[in-house]
Amino acid sequence: MKSNSPQPETRNGARILLTGAAGFIGSHTAEQLVMNGHQVIGLDNLSTGHLSNLNNLRGNQNFEFIEANVLDEYRFNRVMKQFQPHTIIHLAGLVSVVQAQQEPAINFSLNVQATDLIARSAVANGTRRVVFSSSAAVYGDLEEYMIHEDSPTRPIGLYGAAKLASENLLLGYARSYPLEVVCLRYFNVYGDRQDPKNPYSGVISIFSDRFSAGKPVKVFGDGEQTRDFVSVRDVARANRLAATVNEIQSGSRNICTGQSRSINDVVQIFQSIYPEAPNPDYAESRAGEILHSCGNGGYAAMMLGFEPYVSMEDGLSDLVAVQNLANYSANFVSPARRSTVPKEAAAQ
Ligand code: UD1
Repeated sequence: MKSNSPQPETRNGARILLTGAAGFIGSHTAEQLVMNGHQVIGLDNLSTGHLSNLNNLRGNQNFEFIEANVLDEYRFNRVMKQFQPHTIIHLAGLVSVVQAQQEPAINFSLNVQATDLIARSAVANGTRRVVFSSSAAVYGDLEEYMIHEDSPTRPIGLYGAAKLASENLLLGYARSYPLEVVCLRYFNVYGDRQDPKNPYSGVISIFSDRFSAGKPVKVFGDGEQTRDFVSVRDVARANRLAATVNEIQSGSRNICTGQSRSINDVVQIFQSIYPEAPNPDYAESRAGEILHSCGNGGYAAMMLGFEPYVSMEDGLSDLVAVQNLANYSANFVSPARRSTVPKEAAAQ
């Protein structure tokens, strides 16, 4: 999917403050930034993120981790004063769409109030740019097949409403102060480190977990509903580009592949990886379910030089490989330890 169109110039060695660094998208973003020579301070309160997600960055001189809550204004401002970042990538927030609906006050404080705090601190400290993790949930249930940034925004729940409120706030700051703002509307992100344990987790994390355990997956409806699935590696690269492209116009950009795949397609790809897997069970459609969702990524290509590189087939094989490696490491007993493991335990 790589194109030959000219890439916009990017800044080298930028100082970047990354909130939500220990999360699913945050940890991949931190790795890509550091791998590309940027200096990163990662903040996370570890409520849903895990330190183990940052294992690859342990001891790296260009990465520092601080356990802190973004709503702790005093602490946040102190980090900002000391580090003086060129860009803040703000990924911390309430990630569960269901919890946002059930606990509106938490949704407001984490998904709106925290954004305002960050924008104020950015302005006060002369930070040049804020990149914000928004969501395709801002569009709600649109009739349009190919959603672009000028499509109407009619979120159907509080999660999407809070993301949209944050976008508007940030863009208001961009019009009022010398601050650049890029809001990235992620479509259905998948990849390793996404938690499969919640029934409302992303479908691919649930399927991957069940296929690897040899259990049947449950498909809601006839499985012909479609989504625009984008690999977390592409999303991390979009974050990096949004943070480091030299010239940017403030605004909102879709981060998607522009290709929709059905849930049956996803099942088929997993079945080709796990030929022995049991057949899926089909169940009633989820109430209020959107049937089709697909994004137009033209703006992100033009403004950020972002195009997705990872095909669904590659993304899913990659996910399975990483999962297998994690299972192998979890079960691996080093030769040094083996001699101390009781014989019965070692035999299992
Ligand atoms: C996403 C959100 C959801 C939110 C909706 C609207 C995530 C993970 N989900 O849903 O909370 O309400 O946007 O903004 O962010 N599916 C199965 N079997 C499963 C799980 C899912 O067939 O075990 C199907 C679903 O019915 C759906 C598709 O897979 O058709 C994708 O589901 P999901 O990953 O939850 O994403 P969205 O439906 O886009």
